Amino acid sequence: MAKHVSHTVGLDIGTSRVTCIIGEPGDGGLIDIVGIGEAEARGLRKGVVVDPESAVEAITRAVEEAERMSGLEAEEVAINLSGSHIMSFNGQAIVAVSGREREVHLDNGNGHGRRSAHAHMAVAGRDREITADDVRRAIESASAIQLPAGREIVDRLPQEFIVDDQDGINDPVGMIGARLAVKVHIVTSPITARQNVINGVNRAGLMVGEMVLEQLAAAEATLTDDDKEFGAALVDIGAETTGLIIYQRGAVQHTAVFALGGSHFTNDIAFGLRTPIPEAEKIKRIAGCASGLCLSEMERGELIDVPSVGGRPPRQLSRQILCDILQPRAEEVLSHVADEIRESGWEGQLSSGVVLTGGGARLHGMVEIAEQVFDAPVRVGYPERDRFGGLVEDIQSPAWAAASGLCLMAQRVKSAEMRASASRGAQAGGLGALVSKFRNRFGGIF
Ligand SMILES: Nc1ncnc2c1ncn2[C@@H]1O[C@H](COP(=O)(O)OP(=O)(O)O)[C@@H](O)[C@H]1O
Ligand SMILES: [Mg+2]
Repeated sequence: MAKHVSHTVGLDIGTSRVTCIIGEPGDGGLIDIVGIGEAEARGLRKGVVVDPESAVEAITRAVEEAERMSGLEAEEVAINLSGSHIMSFNGQAIVAVSGREREVHLDNGNGHGRRSAHAHMAVAGRDREITADDVRRAIESASAIQLPAGREIVDRLPQEFIVDDQDGINDPVGMIGARLAVKVHIVTSPITARQNVINGVNRAGLMVGEMVLEQLAAAEATLTDDDKEFGAALVDIGAETTGLIIYQRGAVQHTAVFALGGSHFTNDIAFGLRTPIPEAEKIKRIAGCASGLCLSEMERGELIDVPSVGGRPPRQLSRQILCDILQPRAEEVLSHVADEIRESGWEGQLSSGVVLTGGGARLHGMVEIAEQVFDAPVRVGYPERDRFGGLVEDIQSPAWAAASGLCLMAQRVKSAEMRASASRGAQAGGLGALVSKFRNRFGGIF
């Protein structure tokens, strides 16, 4: 079946790190992770390329490392869309089903209607079968909105289809109906921001395939189908940006990006303890804690060495003081997210609670403080072991969620394309690229 399906590459271009994962189709539908690469990034600010040379260099280093490890070559890569310039909203539209005309056979009541003489009293053209083209028209119509100059739609995520009066439909193709309504989550970005990222990837000698909102990719790697169905908010805490994605009823209901992230915590330590940024970063990772509740009495009193700036001698400060700096910042960042969730109207409907990903989720005490702020169950999201094989143990960190999700989504698209081209034959090749893309990325479910 999957014999010609080859490897796919997920490339997560972050503000602080570029991460690359190469995966191959493995046994039991798993993606075998065969290559992992990472490089410190300096070429982006808040998700926007500001220093193309540095960005290209970091991309090249991360990809080459993953290539060396896997012995495979990266050509086309799936990349993340991120940055506080990304804006999303929901749209909807209704179209008349034009689809294939279909004969409606009347049942003669004896249970053999289709084969009886009555069965041929067909009413032609009354009901119609919904085609992929109808779905594409509906989605396009729902996203036909006036955008501010210089902005473009970068993704359309169908939330729900309604056929006549039947709502809650995931995939209406093949259903019979007269009216097809769709609700779509629309993601937009400034055209130049997207082009600059693509340019950077191209200059590193790579082609861009899928482009996926970063928190969506992280969710594909870490959330379960139940999380998406019963409601979950995923919060991806990067260095300078934090992404939010809300799922309910199996679909993306809301997304947002905030210009806040882990570097704000580091800056607070540097400022508060008067220590250089690289030292502040180390202190945060080793001794930092975002919630006072997580420290025992003894840990509170533990002393940490704090190098000073300007040649002054190092000092010693307690972990409690460090926590006093980090906790208000954590509360501030998470409160912005909580406000957004409240305003989106989904607050009371997230049975699976909140999932934290991104490097920022690694800060000690983040889960505990987030539980207080969201007043909901919170967990850290790791690339799920029921989706990944191979070197999966090496990426058991929330910081690998986006890259692994990108690799996974690219693999699904590739497998589905292979299946489609194998079975194409008699079928018209006109299946809207848009529709097939949605179906494939989410493993057949919209
Ligand atoms: N062990 C850790 N403890 C606390 N913070 C961490 C840890 N590891 C990474 N971070 C923070 O995570 C952020 C980077 O997260 P990442 O998801 O890699 O960001 P980006 O995608 O923006 O490059 C940085 O602010 C970094 O300080
Ligand atoms: Mg990131």
